[in-house]
Amino acid sequence: MSDIVRVKTGIPGIDTMLCGGVPEQSQMLITGGPGAGKTLLTFNILYNVAKAGTNAAFITFDEQPAAVIRNAKQTFSALPDIDALIADKKIIVDGTASALRITTEATDTMYSFGNIVSDLEGIIKSNDAKVVVIDSISLLKLMLGNPFMYYKSMLALVSNLKRIGVTSFLTTELQSTERKNLRFSPEYFIFDGILAMYQSEAEERRVLTMEIIKMRGSDHSLALAPYEITPQGFRIFTVEQ
Ligand SMILES: Nc1ncnc2c1ncn2[C@@H]1O[C@H](COP(=O)(O)OP(=O)(O)OP(=O)(O)O)[C@@H](O)[C@H]1O
Ligand SMILES: [Mg+2]
Repeated sequence: MSDIVRVKTGIPGIDTMLCGGVPEQSQMLITGGPGAGKTLLTFNILYNVAKAGTNAAFITFDEQPAAVIRNAKQTFSALPDIDALIADKKIIVDGTASALRITTEATDTMYSFGNIVSDLEGIIKSNDAKVVVIDSISLLKLMLGNPFMYYKSMLALVSNLKRIGVTSFLTTELQSTERKNLRFSPEYFIFDGILAMYQSEAEERRVLTMEIIKMRGSDHSLALAPYEITPQGFRIFTVEQ
């Protein structure tokens, strides 16, 4: 049990909830409603990973790379060296090539999907990244349309990431921001782990919470943990701490 190698997210509450971190070479889904903080959370994890000496790649389908970096720097104003880590290629933020392929070559979607997978591999190899974010896979879902094709493609994507040997965090949109409306899509069963982020209506404000729904090969917290986004990064309020 204790001899599995774990990748620390560097976010104390999440590492606590995962009993030390994400088992190496796991493929983890980060799911949440619009504005839950999926992009910022995954960027925060890659920043921590890179700061601790492991190269990382952030592949963005939803936003332009420059926008991802600008937003992260604005929100995490107290985190030093974001620009330096990017300049030194400790973190690569990329993805426009794939996004363009989707829009311009969408006539044969399976062909485009194959191209995206090889683009991803090229980006990952370019700085020998060991931890990867794909933000988000929702576009792939739209592109592939048919649920069976989407399921098969996700299976192919996840097994490619396993073959490359990276630990990855893939984000996807929840249709609702509320926990009570959580529905499991068939592709959720493909991933090794799932972290869900919710925004609930409280009296005067929204309350942000997260939970680990599953993590193969590891014990994990069953608690629903409140979180906040601070200039120093994500803060998770866990009962285990
Ligand atoms: N400085 C900050 N302090 C606190 N919260 C912030 C700060 N900056 C951004 N946020 C919150 O983070 C949210 C955006 O986070 P992010 O872009 O990661 O969400 P997302 O889940 O990726 O959304 P989408 O589904 O639209 O891609 C904002 O809506 C805001 O609530
Ligand atoms: Mg996002």
